[in-house]
Amino acid sequence: MDFYEVLDKRRSIRAYKSDPIPKESLDKIAQAVNTAPSACNLQPWLFRVVLDQAIKDSICRCYQAAWLKQAPAIVVALGNTESCWQRPEGTPIADIDMGIAMEHLVLAATAEGLGTCWICAYQQSVMDKAMNVLKPWTALAISPLGYPDESPQMPKRKPIEEVFKIVG
Ligand SMILES: Cc1cc2nc3c(=O)[nH]c(=O)nc-3n(C[C@H](O)[C@H](O)[C@H](O)COP(=O)(O)O)c2cc1C
Repeated sequence: MDFYEVLDKRRSIRAYKSDPIPKESLDKIAQAVNTAPSACNLQPWLFRVVLDQAIKDSICRCYQAAWLKQAPAIVVALGNTESCWQRPEGTPIADIDMGIAMEHLVLAATAEGLGTCWICAYQQSVMDKAMNVLKPWTALAISPLGYPDESPQMPKRKPIEEVFKIVG
């Protein structure tokens, strides 16, 4: 799939088939994550692709959505707030680093015909506890991963002129 086609095809998917994910697709997704840039190349992330039903159940208790339960896998994106680069005022950059790598994962999944949906609307402390994630690691985002069982339209975007300006 052409890069711009991937951008057009990617949607947040909230309905999944139970078909398993081929190992080759997971390998390509892993490779895509591993090419992501990060501040000082510190790569302060760890992506867990959870196939285990008991662990998936624990995650689904922290974010309750029927479609999350349908997916054959759930990705948990962990960030390390200590090993990442810190801004001059001391703010950790892990959220941005993980966000880039996670989007690499999302776009590679799209190219593989797989669906994803960023999820952040859970209590981080509760998710960390459920997943046995210890500080300085934290679960910054999760996503179902599996073959889509819907083809949603792109939700309306702001006008381009409002969000992208050529200055000068
Ligand atoms: C950082 C982030 C957090 C999000 N969290 C959630 C979430 O908790 N639950 C959910 O259903 N969708 C979540 N979304 C998906 C957005 O709702 C979705 O990207 C947006 O509506 C645009 O739709 P599209 O992804 O199909 O283009 C999140 C997206 C991003 C980028």
